Amino acid sequence: MTLLQTDGLTKQFGGLVAVDDVSFEVDSGETRAVIGPNGAGKSTLINCITGALEPTAGTVEFDGQNITNLEPHETVQAGVSKSFQTASIFPSMSVRENVEIAALAAEHGSFQLNFLKRLSGFSAVHDTADQMLGAVDLLDSAGAEAGSLPYGDKRRLEIAIALASEPDLLLMDEPTAGMSPDETADTVDLVEALQEDLGLTILIVEHDMEIIFRIADRILVLNRGQVIADGTPEEVQQSEQVQEAYLGGVEL
Ligand SMILES: Nc1ncnc2c1ncn2[C@@H]1O[C@H](COP(=O)(O)OP(=O)(O)OP(=O)(O)O)[C@@H](O)[C@H]1O
Ligand SMILES: [Mg+2]
Repeated sequence: MTLLQTDGLTKQFGGLVAVDDVSFEVDSGETRAVIGPNGAGKSTLINCITGALEPTAGTVEFDGQNITNLEPHETVQAGVSKSFQTASIFPSMSVRENVEIAALAAEHGSFQLNFLKRLSGFSAVHDTADQMLGAVDLLDSAGAEAGSLPYGDKRRLEIAIALASEPDLLLMDEPTAGMSPDETADTVDLVEALQEDLGLTILIVEHDMEIIFRIADRILVLNRGQVIADGTPEEVQQSEQVQEAYLGGVEL
């Protein structure tokens, strides 16, 4: 079943066409990857899907609903969540509170500060938070100050925050960027577990080809905003256009 579909999605920044007429779909339950050289338009494509950027043309459909011009929080409520960079963590709050806030925000659209004081009274929110912290293996650090976590744990907290809205589709833009080899391996295992154990559908941008070929069911390849290949890892690997993009001196 198709969960997400873009049709002719285009984003221009002045004269630059960062995303150029991109049509692709994500099936329910699959791990879908987007790859391409630096500046290919991967992040812009993701941001057009979340509503962080307004597309110049084209549509985004999610679960049969047109979500093209929704605000980011409305997209989250529709069931699409993106794991952000560590900047979205509240450092002086506990790890658990960070996830509870995200769970509350997803439920209420926006949260009120006085809610925070009564957070412990929201047992459903507390349970959701602990479930998500368990899923990313951070339950032992639930009471710790979020700002004190090592880098790799912060990135996993970001994933737990994204999971707190209980999304059907999780978007990840280079989740292993800046991680040590050990942290990277843990994160790759985590992404696999999210897909296999929670049945989550994942759309992931990742530079590391080894990771992509291990976890992706299908890969969309962008170059200068355009789709140059779309298929299984084997199909993409054999694509002449993909090989040209790589051999053309562009590093993926
Ligand atoms: N807000 C913006 N304003 C103007 N140009 C932008 C903006 N965001 C991205 N661009 C340009 O759009 C193009 C695509 O950028 P994008 O960040 O989507 O690429 P990317 O594939 O994610 O690259 P990377 O692998 O480096 O993360 C680039 O040429 C970039 O400079
Ligand atoms: Mg990017």
